[in-house]
Amino acid sequence: MKLIDYIESRRDENLNELKEFLRIPSVSTKSEHKPDIERAAQWVAEKLRTAGLENVEIAQTKMHPLVYGESLHAPGKPTILFYGHYDVQPAEPLDLWTTPAFEPTVRGGSLFGRGTADDKGQVHIHLKAIEALKKTTGQIPLNVKVMIEGEEEIGSVSLWDFVQKNRERLKADALVVSDTSMLARGVPSITYGLRGLNYYQIELTGPAQDLHSGVFGGAVPNPITILAEMIAKLHDKNFRVTVPGFYDRVQTLSRREREALNSLPWKEKDFRKTVGAPGLCGEKGYTIVERLWTRPTLDINGIWGGYMDEGAKTVIPSKAWAKFSTRLVPNQDPAKIAKQVERHIRKLLPKTVTAQFEVLSTGKPWVASYSHPIFQKAINALETGFGKKAVFIREGGSIPFVTQMHDTFKVPCVLLGFGLPDENAHAPDEHIALENYFGGIKAVALFYNQLASQ
Ligand code: BES
Ligand code: MN
Ligand code: MN
Repeated sequence: MKLIDYIESRRDENLNELKEFLRIPSVSTKSEHKPDIERAAQWVAEKLRTAGLENVEIAQTKMHPLVYGESLHAPGKPTILFYGHYDVQPAEPLDLWTTPAFEPTVRGGSLFGRGTADDKGQVHIHLKAIEALKKTTGQIPLNVKVMIEGEEEIGSVSLWDFVQKNRERLKADALVVSDTSMLARGVPSITYGLRGLNYYQIELTGPAQDLHSGVFGGAVPNPITILAEMIAKLHDKNFRVTVPGFYDRVQTLSRREREALNSLPWKEKDFRKTVGAPGLCGEKGYTIVERLWTRPTLDINGIWGGYMDEGAKTVIPSKAWAKFSTRLVPNQDPAKIAKQVERHIRKLLPKTVTAQFEVLSTGKPWVASYSHPIFQKAINALETGFGKKAVFIREGGSIPFVTQMHDTFKVPCVLLGFGLPDENAHAPDEHIALENYFGGIKAVALFYNQLASQ
C-alpha cells in the first residue's frame, strides 16, 4: 500500500512540522497575539501549497484572517470542504503546565502543547493526508476545498460573512471537520450532534462607589451577595434550569437513540477519573451521557468583584460581575433562550441593584442523520486506519459553523474527531495521543481516497 507506506515514512517530518505550527502562539482572544495570528495564517497558507492545493489565499476579515485553498482536478468526483481553525485558547494559568504551552513536547506517547488537540493537531492531520495523496498519486484524486479560520475560539465572528460572499466557491458535496473527540482511546468516532451555545455577561451595580464596610455594612445592598443569591436560584434541587420556558422546545430522544447512546463503550469510571471531583451531579432522570450530549444546561463560567488581592480589605463593592452560558440542544432557539434568560434574571434581582445584561454570542445546536453513503466510507476508513470499529456519538461542545453549513447548504457534515475527552482542551497540559495523530493521517487519507473511488 503505497499511500500508507508514504505516510509511515513521513512520521518524523510530520511531527516536527506540527511542532513548528504549535510554537506559534496564535491566541485569538488577545490583541497582543495579533502578529502571531498573522504568522499562523501565513504558516497554514504555505502548508496548503505544499499539500498541493492551489489558489491559496489569506482572506482578511474585520478581525483575524481566514486561509483558503483548493484542488479541483477530479471531474466527476465528489467535492469536499474541510474546515478547521488555527487559533487557540489562551494558555493561562501558565504555572500549571508541566512543560511550556508553546514549547511542544512528547511525553508518554502524547504530544503536549496548546492547540495539539484543539485544533492545530487535527488540522495538520488533514493537511498531511492531502499531501500524501498528492505525493503518491501525482494528483489529489477528489476535489478538495480547505478553509481554516482564526476566530473559532472567539465565536467565528467573520466566518459567516466570508461564507455568504463565497457561496459558489465553497460549494461542496460534504463538509468534513476534525475538531471533536473520540469516545475513548481505541474507539474511532464520528460525531453527529453538537450542542449550541449562548454566552452572557452580567454587571450588577449597587452603591455608586466602593464603601467602607464598617461605616456602611448592614444598611446597603452588596452586589456580590445579590449576584450569588441570584445565581443560586438558576437551578432547582433536581438540577434543572429554572428559566421559564427553557425546556419547552427541547427534543425528546427516541427510544432507539437513547438505547444506542447508552450502550456505547463509554465508561463512567473513566469519566469520573477525568473529572477528578469528589462526586458528580446533573439533571435528574438522565444518564451522564444523556446529560452531556442531549440536555441543555446553564453554567457559570466566571464571577468576580470586590477585593481580590493579597490580605484583607474591608469594603462593600459597588459592582459585581458574572459570565455564564447555556448549552442548547435541538430544537431550542438561541435568540428565544437569550430573551428568556434575561427576563428571568431581571425578575430574580431586587430593586436595590441595577443590572447590565449582555449576550456575547449565540450559536445553534446541531444533530443530523448519518444515513448518507459518505458515512459508510468514513466508517471503513477509520476502521482500516485504526484497526478498530468506529462508533457514532454526539458531543456536548459547540461548533456553530457546522450548524450554519448544514442549514444553508444542506450537505452531510462528517465530524471525524481525533482528540480524547481527557486531553485537556482549553486547559493546562493540553495534548494529543500520537497514535491518534498518526492514525488520523492514515484514516483521513484512506477516507479521501475512498471518496475518489466510487
Ligand atoms: N473544538 C471545540 C468544540 C468541541 C469541543 C466540540 C469538544 C466537541 C467536543 C471548539 O474549539 C470550541 O472550543 N468551541 C467552543 C464554542 C465556541 C463558540 C467558542 C465551546 O464549545 O465552548
Ligand atoms: Mn476547536
Ligand atoms: Mn476550542
